[in-house]
Formats: sequence, C-alpha cells, structure tokens
Amino acid sequence: MTLYQATASAPVNIACIKYWGKRDTKLILPTNSSLSVTLDQDHLRSTTTSRADPSFERDRLWLNGKEEDIKAGGRTATCITEMKRLRKQEVEDKQPNEPKISEYSVHIASFNNFPTAAGLASSASGFAALVSSLAQLYHLPVSPSTLSLIARQGSGSACRSLFGGFVAWEMGSASDGSDSYAVEVAPQAHWPDLHALICVVSDDKKGTSSTSGMQRTVETSPLLQHRIKEVVPKRMKDISKAILDKDFDSFARITMADSNQFHAVALDTEPPIFYMNDVSKSIIALIVEYNRVSVANGGGYKAAYTYDAGPNAVIYAPKENIKEIIQLIVKYFPQHEGLFKDVFGLFGGADLNSQGGVVEGFNENVAKKFEVGAVKGLIHTRVGDSPRALGAEETLLGSNGLPK
Ligand code: DP6
Repeated sequence: MTLYQATASAPVNIACIKYWGKRDTKLILPTNSSLSVTLDQDHLRSTTTSRADPSFERDRLWLNGKEEDIKAGGRTATCITEMKRLRKQEVEDKQPNEPKISEYSVHIASFNNFPTAAGLASSASGFAALVSSLAQLYHLPVSPSTLSLIARQGSGSACRSLFGGFVAWEMGSASDGSDSYAVEVAPQAHWPDLHALICVVSDDKKGTSSTSGMQRTVETSPLLQHRIKEVVPKRMKDISKAILDKDFDSFARITMADSNQFHAVALDTEPPIFYMNDVSKSIIALIVEYNRVSVANGGGYKAAYTYDAGPNAVIYAPKENIKEIIQLIVKYFPQHEGLFKDVFGLFGGADLNSQGGVVEGFNENVAKKFEVGAVKGLIHTRVGDSPRALGAEETLLGSNGLPK
C-alpha cells in the first residue's frame, strides 16, 4: 500500500518593517505591508510531517510530541481545509487518475528545534512548515506566493516564511485576501553575509499576545493611523532599495526606526502595552553607542536592533562586525558558561565571558553591567533559505501514524 506522507522544514523570520494590525481578523489581512529577513534553518527551524491515510478517523496534530486540539473553524483547521481544497482543485479535478487523498484525514506532527522558553515566536515557522509539508504531500503545482495566502491564515507573519532571503508581505486591498501574499525581494544568495544575533532576554511576566495586542492598537491608537498612511509605504520602498543595493547603513536606520515606531504604537494603545524591558533598552543603548563611534570615525552604521512583541533583541549586522558585537554584549551581559554555541567558530572554543570588550572610543557609561542570566542566551545565525523538502528518514510519524 502506498504511504502518502511528506516532511518539510521551514524557517523563522524577523521583520524589519513590522506587521501590527489587522483589517480582517478572520482572513488575517493586515493594515500595512511588512518586510522580513528569513533566518537560517541550519540553526532555527520547525519540522513537520503530514500523512494522509484512509484509516485515519479525523485530522490530528502534535506539537513537540503533545497533541493539540484542532478547533473547528480555527486557524489550523482553516489551513488544512484550504490545502485539501487546493489538492482537489489543482490535482484531482484536473487529473482524474490521481488518488483522491484530499478526502482522507491527516495526521500532522511538528517539532521546533528551539525551546518555546526561548521566547522566539514559533507560529511563523510552524505554519510555514505545516503548509509546506502538505503542499509536498499533495504534489501541488503552485508557487510559494500561493502557499503564503494559506499560511497567512494560520498566522500573519507565517506567510513570509515561505521564502528565503528578504521577503515582503504585500498587504493587498481585495476583501477576500486574494492579493495579500508574500513575495521575494531578494534571495539569500544576494546578501549572504548579513548575520543576526538573537539575545534571549529573561522575562517572567506573561506578555500581551501579538494577536490581542495588535487588535487593541487598531481600536485605540491614533498614531497607528499615521504609521499606516504615511510611514510604512515609504519605508517599504526605501528598505527594499537598501536591500537591493546591499546598503547596510540605510537598512539599519530604517530597521531601527521601524522597531521604535512599532513599540511606540504599542505604548500609544489604551491601555498601553510595553514589550521591552530594562535589558532590551540597555541593548538599544549599546548598539546606538557602537554605531555612534563608527560614524564619528567616518564609518557607517555597523549594527541594527529590532524587537518583536517581547523583550528579546535581534541584532542584524554584516558578518565582519558580529565578533565585536558579541564581545560588546557579553561585557554587559555575562553568559552562563558553555551555553553559547559558536557555530561560526569566531571564538575558537575560548570562554566567551573572557572575551568581553568594547571598541576604542566607546562610552562605557551608556549602560550598566547586568548580572549573569539577564541575557540568558545568544544565538548567532544569518539570512537563510526557503522551506526544505526532507527525506523519508526524517519523518516524525511512526508506522502506527502517531509521533515517534
Ligand atoms: C511583532 O504573526 O504572530 O512579530 O497574525 O495574529 O498570528 P497573528 O500575529 P503574528 O504577529 C507578528 C507581530 C510581530 C511583527 C512581525 O512579525 O511583522
């Protein structure tokens, strides 16, 4: 008997121009376009296996080994239904000899290789991997942009994880969402030396979720209206050009300005929302000073910070600056020994904390030194590729159709 099964992995993406606000909460249509950098799946990824079988009684989903309820009409159910509809429309209706596997229930097992406790959003890579594995299972002859229309209905930011490199989510204007999808601005190979350093910041309090936070902003923030109409359209053009020109200076200015404005509209929400804490703000101060020194010496910006709906910092920088930036961060935020994986071999196995330091001319008083654990981990990665089709040996489902 044929086994109808496919496994795919999908990347995390971190926006430079932030998506914050929906004009349609069911279809997940945004109030502004956004743009992100896809990160390397060698370091951070969601892996998903989907299997269709006539013996399965209903659609079921396991996340990191634990079964999750698929709520009728919910986001996961919508993605699965839409993928089955595409299979029928694009394959079974056109080629009557193809097996009608869209009529079978599916079992889906998904795994994130980064801990949920790291506070990294897993919904983007998770829904992108779900849609990619089903597209592979169903042999769908469709483009990543078409798949992004479906991933978008799982989580808005997920639509951008269908491409590698630099990705725009065009907001569109149609009420059915048919023109609200992701497009590639430039592939990974265009600017492979753009690296990212994720500073995982400790956070005890349960923050406001993106989904509910952005809706409150739409309902109450006057500043958001200015952002949507005047600010984002120009930034989308300017940052796309900066990326095509590999102009890091402009890329950095726009990325930081947009992170700042996203947190400003969060603060402009009633009641106000704060995502950054004192550690986040100190990292901003360090990057601002690091750039100031470079500009004062006749150079350009050397690093750009950006923050999503939580306290973690993501620092984008050209590869050649990353060692200095890690040294700067560990000087102010000493690390638990041995936690940092030096995947690019910058420190040659040396104890990271002994490497801390600042560049010449740096004003050390811009931030205080924190205790070990304030930044509980550093992840060094870079711009990465689009979802990958994995071989049968990577399956997450056993022969009984349950997670292995
Ligand atoms: C701050 O995509 O998680 O990360 O569409 O409700 O699932 P839903 O929201 P989500 O929001 C992401 C918000 C952000 C900015 C961004 O990624 O563009």
